[in-house]
Amino acid sequence: MERSTGTVYLVGAGPGDPDLITVKGLELLRRAGVVVYDRLIPRELLLQCRRTAELIHVGKKPGRPSIAQEQINRMLIDRALQGKLVVRLKGGDPFVFGRGGEEQNACQKAGVHCVVVPGVSSALAAAASVGIPVTYRQKSRHFVVVTGHSNGEGDPLDYSALASIDTIVILMGRSNLAEFCESLMIAGKDPATPAACVEWATTQKQRLSTGSLQSIAALVERDKLEPPVVTIVGEVAALAATSDSFARECWQLADPAHRGDHPWLS
Ligand SMILES: C[S@@+](CC[C@H](N)C(=O)[O-])C[C@H]1O[C@@H](n2cnc3c(N)ncnc32)[C@H](O)[C@@H]1O
Repeated sequence: MERSTGTVYLVGAGPGDPDLITVKGLELLRRAGVVVYDRLIPRELLLQCRRTAELIHVGKKPGRPSIAQEQINRMLIDRALQGKLVVRLKGGDPFVFGRGGEEQNACQKAGVHCVVVPGVSSALAAAASVGIPVTYRQKSRHFVVVTGHSNGEGDPLDYSALASIDTIVILMGRSNLAEFCESLMIAGKDPATPAACVEWATTQKQRLSTGSLQSIAALVERDKLEPPVVTIVGEVAALAATSDSFARECWQLADPAHRGDHPWLS
């Protein structure tokens, strides 16, 4: 951390509970001159920033026009070239479905020093927050994290390969859940395989639906779960705890010295 200016730090904010950012990430946030942040970043984290810090929201909201990735890259590079300590605060881990790799590439091409500070990905935290271990001796020897969002880009998913994995963790899969589960069953995954969906994992709004590969899409409709949702398919999903222990375990960056407001946040 000896270089504190002219650098872009790609920082993972964690899955939603503000206390799940890393110590390093939090320290950088408290020092940053500029913070460029996404839609799912908890407000409690932004309140950790210096009052003089420039806070820029670049969140992409489903169905709304979003800021182009090139514009975000430019923002990071320009401010770093001005000698500022720039934190690019991204949900979960910066390199799990967050276009963090592209931002790193853009910085490197522009000759800007870029450092990645990993975060706790929702891919793991959503399962953990409801008591689902993604690996478990004899039940789950491997797991895969996959996007459920098919936007027509790239090759279609190999569902046969996916079906052979013990535990499948699906991100961005809420709107296509029925089709995704159907494809897995056609590829040979047992329809009775346990499945769980976690909405707003690790936050006070966390909700859980449990069922089987065959039933989960209808149950999520019944329970009206909305994104952000993580789905876990595999024997381990049967271990999902139905009690909501998380709400009692939320400390919310308890240090009062760092609480307050910020002029950039209305
Ligand atoms: C663009 S991806 C970013 C993932 C992020 N980089 C990570 O490591 O968690 C956004 C997706 O992550 C999942 N997600 C993020 N935060 C979540 C949360 N608190 N609860 C449930 N799902 C979440 C949802 O599937 C959402 O559609």
